[in-house]
Amino acid sequence: MLLRTEYSGQRDTKKGAKKINRKTMKKLLLVFFTILFSASFTINAQKENTGAINQLVIVANHTGPVISKDIYGHFSEHLGACIYGGIWVGTDSKIPNTFGIRNDVLFALREIKIPNLRWPGGCFADTYHWKDGIGPQEKRASIINTHWGGVTEDNSFGTHEFMKLSELLGCDAYINGNVGSGTVQEMAEWVEYMTSDSESPMTKLRKENGRDEPWKVKFFAIGNENWGCGGNMTPEFYGDVMRQFSTYLKDFSGNHLYRVACGASDFDYQWTETLMKEPKNRGMFQGLSLHYYSVPGGWGSKGSATNFTENDWFETFRLNYQMDAIIKGHTAIMDRYDPGNTKGLVIDEWGNWFQVEPGTNPGFLYQQNTLRDAITAAIHLNIFNHHADRVKVANLAQVVNVLQSVILTKEDKMVLTPTYHVFRMFRVHQEAQLLNIDLRCEDYVVGERAIPAISASASVDKEGKIHISLANLNPNKEITLTCPVIGESYKSVTGEVLTANEMASFNSFEKPDAVKPSVFNGFKMKEGVLTVTMPPKSVVVLELIK
Ligand code: AHR
Repeated sequence: MLLRTEYSGQRDTKKGAKKINRKTMKKLLLVFFTILFSASFTINAQKENTGAINQLVIVANHTGPVISKDIYGHFSEHLGACIYGGIWVGTDSKIPNTFGIRNDVLFALREIKIPNLRWPGGCFADTYHWKDGIGPQEKRASIINTHWGGVTEDNSFGTHEFMKLSELLGCDAYINGNVGSGTVQEMAEWVEYMTSDSESPMTKLRKENGRDEPWKVKFFAIGNENWGCGGNMTPEFYGDVMRQFSTYLKDFSGNHLYRVACGASDFDYQWTETLMKEPKNRGMFQGLSLHYYSVPGGWGSKGSATNFTENDWFETFRLNYQMDAIIKGHTAIMDRYDPGNTKGLVIDEWGNWFQVEPGTNPGFLYQQNTLRDAITAAIHLNIFNHHADRVKVANLAQVVNVLQSVILTKEDKMVLTPTYHVFRMFRVHQEAQLLNIDLRCEDYVVGERAIPAISASASVDKEGKIHISLANLNPNKEITLTCPVIGESYKSVTGEVLTANEMASFNSFEKPDAVKPSVFNGFKMKEGVLTVTMPPKSVVVLELIK
C-alpha cells in the first residue's frame, strides 16, 4: 500500500466561509465553474501528452491575507561561528567591516530584504545577562557559553552592537529575553534601557554608553524553549512565570512590543492548549512561538548534510511537509480560544538539522547546505505563505554558520548557500496578498511512500504583479504543470530557476557558485493558461505582469 503524506497546499477557508455574502457567493460560483471548465480542458490535454495530472489553478482576483514580511525572518544566536567570526569581527579586523560588522554579510542580508533578526538565542538567551554586554568593550566581563561548546566569549557583541546591526540591515530587532536564569527586574530594565527616552537610571546608563536616542524594538520573546533548555518548566508553571515577566515589560516612548510567549515544540499540542485556554495568559502576549526542526534519521543519529541517498532526500521532504500538519494542529487550538485571530503563531526556529561537518566542534552545529536544503526552504516558505492568516513571524535557524544557514564564512571568505538563493527568489512574497490556488499534482514515490511532487504558492503584490513559487521535489523527472490563471490576463511572464547536477550539490569556498539561480525559460502562456516545465529537483519563481 502506498502511504501518502497529505499536503493540499490550500488555505483553510473555514474562517472566510463564515463571512461570505450572496454577492461573493455568486462570484465564487462563477470562479468555480470557470475553474471546472478550464480544469477539465487542461487536464484532458495534459493526460494526452503526459499521462499525469499536474495542475495549479490560480484565481488572480480572489485574494487572501497579506503575507507578513516577518515570515521571512532570520535567527542569530551566540552559537559556534554565528555571531563571533560570522557577523562580528570587531573594528580592528582586516576583514572589511562597518562598526565591527562584516560588510559582505551585511550586503548579502540586505539583498534578501531581511525583515527581522532574532538574538541572542535560542538556549543561549536563557543564560544571557545583558548588562555583561554593555559599556567599553575592553571592560566587559567574559562569560562561558555553557550551552554551546563551553567556549569563553568576551562579550564584545552586545546590545549596542546588535541594535547597530539591525539598523545597518534596515530590519526589525527581535530580542529574546532571559526567563530561565534571569530576573523580572533584569528583563524589565533591558526593555527600559533600549526603548525609553525618559530620564531614568537605565536611560542614563545607555547615554553614558554612547547612545542618546532610544531604539525601537519590535519583537520581544519571554524566554526560549522553557519546556527544555529554558528552565524545564511545565506549561502551567511557565504560564504563571510568563505573566509575571510580561507584566513588567512596558511600552516606552511610543515603542510597542510584540510580546512572544514561549510556545510548543513539534506536535506538543498540550503546551499550546494550556497556554491558550487561560484568558489571563492570553492577555499577556501577542505571539506564541513554535519550534520545529526536520531531523532525518532522528535526534540520535541525524543524517549527513552532504552525503545522503535518495531515500534520505525523500525523508527530509516528508518531514518538511509535516510543518503544514503541525501548524494546522496548533492553529486549530488557537482558533478555538482566539477566533478573532489576534494572536500570531511565531515559528521562530525551523529548518533541517544534520550532523556537524566532520572535524568541526559538535557544539557549534556547523553544517553544509545543499540543493536539498534549498527545496526544504521552498517547501517551508510556501507552507508559511498558505498560513498567512495565523503565521505572522518565522525565523530560519540560523543565519550564518549554524544549521541551515543562508551564509557560510571562513575567515575573510563568504559563501551564499542554496537556501540563501531561495530567500532571495521568494522575497517578492513579502507583504504581498496571498492568492487562492488549487494544486493537484502527481506523487513523488520512493519505495512504498509518497509525497506530493510539487510545492506551490502564489501572491499578488501592490503593483498587481503575480508571483508563483514552485518546487519540483522529484530528482529524476521534469514535471509539466498547467496553470490556468483566472480573473485577469497577463502579458509578460519571466522566471528564475534554482537547480544543480546533483541532489547534494553545494557551494564551497572553492566553488561558491556551484548552485545559483539562472533565468528560466521553461514556460509558455497561451489563452490565459500558463504551462511550466520544471526541471527535476528545482525551485522556480515566476513573475506575471498585466
Ligand atoms: O537553533 C539551535 C537551538 O535549537 C536553539 O538554541 C534552541 O532554541 C533549539 O533547541
